[in-house]
Amino acid sequence: MYPDLKGKTVIITGAATGIGKACALRFGQEQANVVINFHSDKQVKETEEMIKEIKNSGGNAIAVQGDVTKESDIKQLIEKTISEFGSLDIMINNAGIENEVPSHELTLEDWNKVISTNLTGQFLGCREAIDYFLEHDIQGAIINMSSVHEIIPWPHFVHYAASKGGIKLMTQTLALEYAPKRIRINSIAPGAINTPINAEKFSDPKQKEGVLKLIPMGYIGEPEEIAATAVWLASNQASYVTGLTLIADGGMTLYPGFQAGKG
Ligand code: NAI
Repeated sequence: MYPDLKGKTVIITGAATGIGKACALRFGQEQANVVINFHSDKQVKETEEMIKEIKNSGGNAIAVQGDVTKESDIKQLIEKTISEFGSLDIMINNAGIENEVPSHELTLEDWNKVISTNLTGQFLGCREAIDYFLEHDIQGAIINMSSVHEIIPWPHFVHYAASKGGIKLMTQTLALEYAPKRIRINSIAPGAINTPINAEKFSDPKQKEGVLKLIPMGYIGEPEEIAATAVWLASNQASYVTGLTLIADGGMTLYPGFQAGKG
């Protein structure tokens, strides 16, 4: 537990499912004020349940619908946060999408959709949070949800890999730019995590086996294991950490092909 997170206000985008949801519930356990951004009308019920759970664990929460690709929605997300909780301390840009297409068949529409959600959406979240932190002299923290694919090339997912590679240098650049203001900006790079984004892949035993071969620790990660890294990065325990990509991947980026002395 991180006592300094108690009473802090955190926005998490795309927080009705998967990693974002696990982060929201974990910040709730830390007794933070949690703003659950969600995208689809279908997620309303889920966010209502989450609000109850967060309040039961001693935190506070609201849900705000919004599309991270829309500048006006991000601005509104920050405004609603301030009007409800009076401040913003932590911004987690988590919303992301992917779809598999051979690169020579990838439409401009699909390319733009992934880049605008995963990269532009995170930029807008960073920009609005930084602007607020500067205006109110807050030494805030920003966490961008990247991926091991900011390092590992990924055929058939060129738009996704490009978005995550972009997040890496966006995070480092912003971290450098705002370090003098003590605003810390970091990323998390999860490996294969058990969330809806992977549901179809992991429901096929053959595909799941293929993924497991890429993970030296031998299991698919749980969203709570990513949330555990997010609360640390947001807390004062990480006060001197900025510009970092924290990799949480069970060893996926350690060249598993070289295991047992191969190579
Ligand atoms: P998920 O599909 O459960 O979560 C993504 C969330 O983003 C969903 O709730 C979705 O409604 C929301 N979203 C999509 N478009 C949006 C938009 N325009 N505006 C607002 N919200 C929007 O999947 P997961 O795994 O929890 O993904 C979260 C983040 O973690 C993503 O950025 C993903 O790229 C990243 N990640 C996930 C990994 C995994 O294995 N699950 C591995 C590496 C990174």
